[in-house]
This record gives sequence, C-alpha cells and structure tokens, in this order.
Amino acid sequence: MSDRFFPVDEPMLQEVLDWASHRIVNGPDPSHGAEPASALAAELAGSICTQGIGGTEALRRFTEIIVPATRAQDERMNLAYVAAAPTPAALTFDLAVSAAEIFGGTWETGAGAVAAENQALDWIAGLAGFPKSAGGTFVSGGTIGNLSALHAARERARLRNPQVRHWRLATTASAHSSIAAAAKVMDVDLCHVLGDEQGRMTKSALADALGQDEDIFAVLATAGTTNAGVIDDLSGIASLCEERELWLHVDGALGLAALASPEARSRFAGIERADSFVVDPHKWLFAPYDCCALIYRNPADAASAHAQIAPYLDQVDRDEWNPADYAIHLSRRVRGLPLWFSLAVYGTERYGAAIDQVLQTVAAIVEGIEDSPDLELVAEPDLNVILFKRPSMSDSEMLLWSEAHRQAGTILCLPTTHRGQQVFRLCLVNPDTKAEEVLFMVHSDVSTTGRINTSGAEEP
Ligand SMILES: Cc1ncc(COP(=O)(O)O)c(C=O)c1O
Repeated sequence: MSDRFFPVDEPMLQEVLDWASHRIVNGPDPSHGAEPASALAAELAGSICTQGIGGTEALRRFTEIIVPATRAQDERMNLAYVAAAPTPAALTFDLAVSAAEIFGGTWETGAGAVAAENQALDWIAGLAGFPKSAGGTFVSGGTIGNLSALHAARERARLRNPQVRHWRLATTASAHSSIAAAAKVMDVDLCHVLGDEQGRMTKSALADALGQDEDIFAVLATAGTTNAGVIDDLSGIASLCEERELWLHVDGALGLAALASPEARSRFAGIERADSFVVDPHKWLFAPYDCCALIYRNPADAASAHAQIAPYLDQVDRDEWNPADYAIHLSRRVRGLPLWFSLAVYGTERYGAAIDQVLQTVAAIVEGIEDSPDLELVAEPDLNVILFKRPSMSDSEMLLWSEAHRQAGTILCLPTTHRGQQVFRLCLVNPDTKAEEVLFMVHSDVSTTGRINTSGAEEP
C-alpha cells in the first residue's frame, strides 16, 4: 500500500527484524545495566524532533544506548528479584502478535485470539484442578491480577453482606507488596495473620486472626512468596475459607508455574478449592512480558464486578467471552498469545520438564551450599528461591560483593532481609542456569576495591 500516510520503510523494517532475530538467537548481554538519568538524557537528546531522525538512527539509539542501559532479564545468571526465561518461540511470536494488532478486550474484535488465549488459560486452570467452567483473562502482571481478583471478591462480599461498611483482607506479612498496594487502592484494611517460622500461613493462625469477625471479604494466600519461595498451607486455608464462606485468592504469580510439573504439583494441594488465583507466565512459565493469567472458579462473579457499561459499549455481545469483563482493563493486547504459541510449538510436557530442570538445579545448589564450610543455608526451599549466608561476610561486604558481580555481569545475586537478618537470595526461573556456575560464583571473593577473585572457588 504505497498511498499510506505513514509509508512502510522496508529497509527500516528489515533492520529492526534483523536486530530482533539476532537478539532471540543469541540472547542478552549480561553486562547490560542501568545508567544515570543525566547520561541517558544527554545521549538520547534530540530523538524526538519536528522532522524525525529516521529509522536507522532511531534504531542505532535503541541498540547502542537504550538496550545497554537495561538489565538482561533472560540471562541465565540473573538470579535477582524474579528474572525471566521466555522461550525462543514465545519471543518470536510476540513480534507477530504486535503485527496482527488485535484488540483483545472483546470477543467481537478478537475472537480467534481470545479463543486461543482461553486454551492457554484452560490448560492452567486444569493443572490447578479447577472446573471446566472456570475462566478469566490475561492481564499485565500479578499486581493487576491480584487487584482485579480482590475487587471481585469484595463485590461478592458486599452483595452478601450489604450492612458491612468497611472491609478487611486477611493475609500474612509475607504476601507480596502488591497486596498492600491493592488494599490501599481498594481502601480496605489488612487483617494480619501470623506466619510460622518461614512466614507460611497456617490454618490455625488464620483461624486465630479471623476470630468471629464478619468484615473479612477474602483470604489472600501465597503459593511461592517472593522473598523466600514459601507456599502457604493452601489445603488447611481452603477448608477454613469453605467453613466461613470466604473468598480464597491465591497469589501464585511466582510459584504456581510449578503446577506444570506433575511431580511438583502436589505441593499446591488445596489450590483446586480456591475462588481465584494468578500465575505470571512472564516469571516462570517462559513467556515474555507482560503476562499474568488471572483465573476465577466462577467467572460470573468477576464479570459482575468488572464489566464496563456505557452506551458506546451497548453493542458488545455479553453472551460471548469478553476478556474486558474479567479485570480492571478495557483495551488490551492479546498478551496470552505468545504463551499459547509456545505451548503449541513445544507441547506441555516440555514445560513440565523445564520446571523440573529448574527445581533440580535448585536442589543441586542447595546441596552445594550445605556441603560448603563457607556457606550456610537459611532454610530448606519449598520452590525456586534459595536463601543463604556467607557467615564470614559483614552486611556491607555482602553489598560490595553483589555490586562487583553485577557490574562484571558474572552473577546477579542481591541480598534481602529474612527474619531481621541480611542474607543472600537466589531466585531461579531459567532452565539454562547451571548449578556449578552458580556455586563457583557464590564462592568467589571480592576485594575492598571491588576486584573479583575466583581462585578459592572450584572451576565449574
Ligand atoms: C508473589 C508475587 N505476587 C505478585 C507479584 C507482582 O507481579 P507483577 O510484578 O507482575 O505485577 C510478584 C512479583 O514479583 C510476586 O512475586
């Protein structure tokens, strides 16, 4: 179409596709990382100007300035926060999803894509033992997924108990920060449940916290806490929620990916009795950002809380599956499609095997830590987060060690606080991470000037 207002610049298109395919084939550069805002502002000055700078120069700025000033999330030694490990198929297909420019808010505009996304959601719902009638949508991340589910939960509670004026949400201090953020947005208070030694919510602690109170609208359990990877006692919590007719939402943004492994699945016994849950495929289910699967046992509860009503939406057929009705959003990218494509390409067994691979690597690192006189395991992991100490290091030495490795691009391992103590934290999601490489690096020393010395470590 040569008469387009914005013409297609074919050489520019090819250059961008070439860069993208090179990145997908070769992976990221581990030495990438943030730079000072002032330096970036200077380097990017003039990008946005009246006549434009042209595709070649804009792409140069992207590849030479922008990307190097970002952290490589899918690098196998990135073990900080929660990294990512999208499959090549999922990354590649993300390009096609953009090119197809599908509005995924309603069935009418996105039917084919929504049907495919729903297949991916059904797969996840089935792994959790949810009924066939379960459903939901893909949202940008666990934060919006949790907020959307909690809003649906409170709406149901309001309908059942209109006399309650102010609601509370029961959860532990180990719940992700997005839960406190959701409570703030919703103007509800938290009912604090005491965690056990590892921060795990148990049935008895929940019962103590709930007392006979009528103002609790939901219980928020976590399947894989962010700091320590701990799984709450889902089964006991589900029983209590059933007795008390409370909505149980499970935040499995990080951990519920392990449902894909038939071996690991039993760790989540009780999930099948939740009212809703989230899992982020962009964390440990090998999908690119941004992708959170939000699933409800009874999607009608969500639709009555979330469906947007307006004259310009009167033509939306409410008998069809409109993803906009299941979360806080209207316009949406069909962000579940890269996961769908990747599942279709590799098959679900390969996903289970990838999770098992990560869990085996975790076990090997744990063994290496336990066998080392220089290291101390803080707690036996439930999932994919390892907390350990190097007793010979002070808190400031730990920070120096971590920073030297970050700058060198050798390992990204940041300290966290656990039970009032600074400890090292590793969070694994990448099946290509090698236990020997990690153990080699965690045995390395860093001088006061930030030089890394690996002579005391065993070669991987
Ligand atoms: C357990 C848990 N819940 C929720 C979130 C928030 O997810 P997102 O960053 O995708 O909004 C995270 C992020 O790490 C998490 O670990």
